[in-house]
Amino acid sequence: MGIARVRDVVDTAQSLNSDLVVILGDYFATHRFITEHVPHAAWAAELGRLKAKHGVYAILGNHDWWYDVDGVRAALHQVRIPLMSNDAVLLGAPGAKFWLAGIDDQLAHYVGHKTFRGEDDLPGTLAKVKTDDPVILLVHEPDIFTQVPPRVALTLAGHTHGGQIVFPFMPPLWTPSAYGARYAYGHIVEQDRHMIVSGGLGTSKVPLRLGVTPEIVRVTLGA
Ligand SMILES: [Fe+2]
Repeated sequence: MGIARVRDVVDTAQSLNSDLVVILGDYFATHRFITEHVPHAAWAAELGRLKAKHGVYAILGNHDWWYDVDGVRAALHQVRIPLMSNDAVLLGAPGAKFWLAGIDDQLAHYVGHKTFRGEDDLPGTLAKVKTDDPVILLVHEPDIFTQVPPRVALTLAGHTHGGQIVFPFMPPLWTPSAYGARYAYGHIVEQDRHMIVSGGLGTSKVPLRLGVTPEIVRVTLGA
């Protein structure tokens, strides 16, 4: 998307007045058909306008790792958005504290034969959770949900674009997930564990999106 669209998305996100803003990776277009080249400093400056009571946090996606992880890291650092790389922080007011944990990307390195080696460390990340307060976990690809323990109250994921091209009354034609349509989109509940997979905003591989509205997901948590 062009910079005007990024600006519009940030304005919309800000208008929601959220307590916490999380951004789940894949910050720039890497397919060939882009309409406008947006330098890292430009999109990061727009994201830098996001403000929330408990802060704005980011994690890395696979495209960030594959194409320019150092550039993305530097751009987010420049605008003071913390990058959660297998890390956890305790947030919230006394009596209403919660952990925000974020893992690094699960598909960071292509090692051949359609296989990837991740930078993710879920056990190491959760080992940093030192109190009984609830945990919100940020992951780029939803596939790790099968390994997320019930200790985590909510997992937030992106990556799939909800399948990106979806015809009415049909499952997605293709989803970048080993589990097909199972984790493609929405609020997924399995064995009392919750995950929300955002449809995200852009496109991947091809500049076409059909049947999956670009979205900012607003999550309201209850006790
Ligand atoms: Fe991705």
